[in-house]
Amino acid sequence: MARIKTMEWRPGELHLIDQRKLPVVEEVVVCRTYSEVARAIKDMIVRGAPAIGAAAAYGVALAMYQFVEEERDRSELPEYLKEVRETLAQTRPTAVNLFWALDRMNRLYQANRDLKPEQLKERLEEEAKAIADEDVATNRKIGEYGAALVPEKAGILTHCNAGALATVDYGTALAVIRVAHEQGKDIHVYADETRPFLQGARLTAWELQQDGIPVTLITDNMAAYAMQQGLVDLVITGADRIAANGDTANKIGTYGVAILAKEHGIPFYVAAPRSTIDASLATGEEIPIEERHHSEVTHVFGTQVAPTGIDVINPAFDVTPHRYIAGIITEVGVLKPPFTESIAEALKK
Ligand code: MRU
Repeated sequence: MARIKTMEWRPGELHLIDQRKLPVVEEVVVCRTYSEVARAIKDMIVRGAPAIGAAAAYGVALAMYQFVEEERDRSELPEYLKEVRETLAQTRPTAVNLFWALDRMNRLYQANRDLKPEQLKERLEEEAKAIADEDVATNRKIGEYGAALVPEKAGILTHCNAGALATVDYGTALAVIRVAHEQGKDIHVYADETRPFLQGARLTAWELQQDGIPVTLITDNMAAYAMQQGLVDLVITGADRIAANGDTANKIGTYGVAILAKEHGIPFYVAAPRSTIDASLATGEEIPIEERHHSEVTHVFGTQVAPTGIDVINPAFDVTPHRYIAGIITEVGVLKPPFTESIAEALKK
């Protein structure tokens, strides 16, 4: 069965599957302006680090469509594109792929500043498509390198959704799972439901079910039990930002899973493209953590589940210190501790 598309580019339009409504409703949202793309990222119509990056790149391409259609004067372009970048950059702070993609689009613009707006529009559109296509190729490689770490008959626990929906296609953590399954390994996945946004229940469980990969949904507080029962042989998650020393920001709850894995002697792997590495940050302490609206905690899809006025925190991510991580699975191989060295080496390739 063909997988549902996270995003689809048509000239002047970015089509996004509305991930807030999956798996119950399959609805596509069409963005025709960069502001609509920014809103879609902020509202999590599109989410997941690599998917956010690719969507932002298409947002810049759409901005050029707008500029050309409005027949604006090219002297306005530098200021206009700065405003576009800022609008897209202000959507979500943690996943570095967003800033990585915006930087890449900006570098292309800077190198082609002398082109006419119409030509620049084409170049930026090509670059956004390249970012999207490379993401899929990168994920396949992550899957191949990672599958070598998966034993026969492995129980694999994952948290959040690092699947096709979190990327342009195929996923990162789920790429490893997909390749291991394709190789005929008799794997079984345990998907944490991932409160409060339920990416595990709504997206990971659904993706794997659609692919015919055996999956059991558990609530987040069942992970320790599953490990104690011997159901889990390894943990694989995605990442939103990896510091130079390997400290990794990922969906809230990942840190707890990593501690549990260590206690049970279970290897904990992170699967991510190199575009998720932020070598400008020495440690994870410097990673900005997004705080989302408190209603995500007090309400479950519109139904109030907590007292009115209750005090709440809602950090969307946490940082797993590098000492809990057995390896970082990238498109250039599995990086091992000491990460400061293996990450620096991987970035040179
Ligand atoms: O808030 P989200 O849904 O954007 O968070 C997503 C995650 O934390 C993923 O694990 C991460 O982006 C990796 S996706 C390949």
